[in-house]
Amino acid sequence: MPDISSNLAGIKSPNPFWLASAPPTNSGYQVMKAFDAGWGGAVWKTLGVPVVNVSSRYGGVNYRDSRLIGLNNIELITDRPLKDNLHEIEEVKKYFPDHAVVASLMVESRAEWHQIVKDVENAGADGIELNFGCPHGMCERGMGSAVGQEPEVLKTIVGWVKEVSTVPVIVKLTPNISDITVPAQAADEGGGDAISLINTIQSLVGVDIDNFVPYPVVDGKSTHGGYCGPAVKPIALNMLKNCAQHTNVNLPISGIGGIENWRDAVEYILLGATNVQVCTAVMHFGFGIIREMIPGLENYMVEKGFDSLEDMRGKALGNVTNWENLNLKHKVIADIDEEKCIGCQLCYIACEDGAHQAIGLTENNGTRVPHIIEDNCVGCNLCSIVCPVEDCITMVRKDDGTEVVTWKDRQEEGSAPTTFNDDRAGGIGHWVPEPKDALNKK
Ligand SMILES: Cc1cc2nc3c(=O)[nH]c(=O)nc-3n(C[C@H](O)[C@H](O)[C@H](O)COP(=O)(O)O)c2cc1C
Ligand code: SF4
Ligand code: SF4
Repeated sequence: MPDISSNLAGIKSPNPFWLASAPPTNSGYQVMKAFDAGWGGAVWKTLGVPVVNVSSRYGGVNYRDSRLIGLNNIELITDRPLKDNLHEIEEVKKYFPDHAVVASLMVESRAEWHQIVKDVENAGADGIELNFGCPHGMCERGMGSAVGQEPEVLKTIVGWVKEVSTVPVIVKLTPNISDITVPAQAADEGGGDAISLINTIQSLVGVDIDNFVPYPVVDGKSTHGGYCGPAVKPIALNMLKNCAQHTNVNLPISGIGGIENWRDAVEYILLGATNVQVCTAVMHFGFGIIREMIPGLENYMVEKGFDSLEDMRGKALGNVTNWENLNLKHKVIADIDEEKCIGCQLCYIACEDGAHQAIGLTENNGTRVPHIIEDNCVGCNLCSIVCPVEDCITMVRKDDGTEVVTWKDRQEEGSAPTTFNDDRAGGIGHWVPEPKDALNKK
């Protein structure tokens, strides 16, 4: 079996699956239960001066028959006294000395940072995570994402923590910023040992249209919350890639956002994450999801011949480049497997109205299987994405792979279109129907 033990900036855990700082890590009971189920580490629900929370606190986004593809929350940091949390951290470490217990922290003054860092270290925390990400409530008080959005302030506070900390310090970043690599660099410059991303995305998940108030409703009023769950994974992966590729961000990364299964975790690791953290999936399905995640990761590693997580980390990074470096001569077109097609014609309507009119309906032959009009197909993928039958529409390569010309090449050789009516435009020679043909359609 491959070695799936993880080491994030010196914080060791038996596997790379950690619980993110959130309700599932609110108490020693939960963290013990999670470790017993197989989780490798836990970032404790953020500690600080305890808050008073509101009810209700969550809003969910359902999509068709899937519940909770996104979760919005207006919960703050822990509402439990620090002494209770410290006592429970100590207790958990006694039972699980080899698992990672990381204390997430959020306080205001330098003196408070110094004190709480010492407190959690005395309780036995293996690491510290600085919550510079919470985008609701706490930021109104000058903490959370208010710090994550101000690189200089972030750097200063990381410095305060590093003045006293003896365990590794992870800086948790907010996605509510135009370029996440800026605070990531500040975390590095401030002396942080790792970064974690993403915290939640500022959001309003919907409105009660009868009572004119967004969700979640608190006595007839609402406020913006933080968005997470499967819907945010694409945003998190892009931010992870940006940090992992940046030459001035030289910190290991704990990946967070929409992770639900081993495959999600593998994607994060391939894009440069050293380990991963999970919140929403556990709030939805419980700690038991770890039982699929561990063997799933191990089987994948065996199949690909990876002996350790380090062997696979960042393997996809070299294949992410700027658009200007993509091969303009690469050509694929859609191909329909007639045997698999169920004749729903979703591909036809998508291409007809939303793409390039490259799918035809075969009339009067008793079949509902559409056909591809190869000359019109630009290889956009839309039909294969909307087709409900797996592998029914595949994209088939048409170029022979010998020619590589990029936008950058074309600019350098002076063959890129430069004027509005340039006849070197990519669409020149590409068939489009006459506008009035739209009126003759049945
Ligand atoms: C209800 C709720 C409470 C959260 N509380 C905290 C917190 O106290 N500290 C923190 O750093 N992140 C907190 N988070 C953010 C999560 O740790 C995580 O960054 C985010 O949910 C994205 O991961 P996910 O898509 O797996 O949920 C909270 C998230 C939720 C849903
Ligand atoms: S979407 Fe797929 S199944 Fe439906 S008609 Fe097109 S090819 Fe056939
Ligand atoms: S790949 Fe795009 S252009 Fe080609 S048939 Fe499918 S939807 Fe139409």
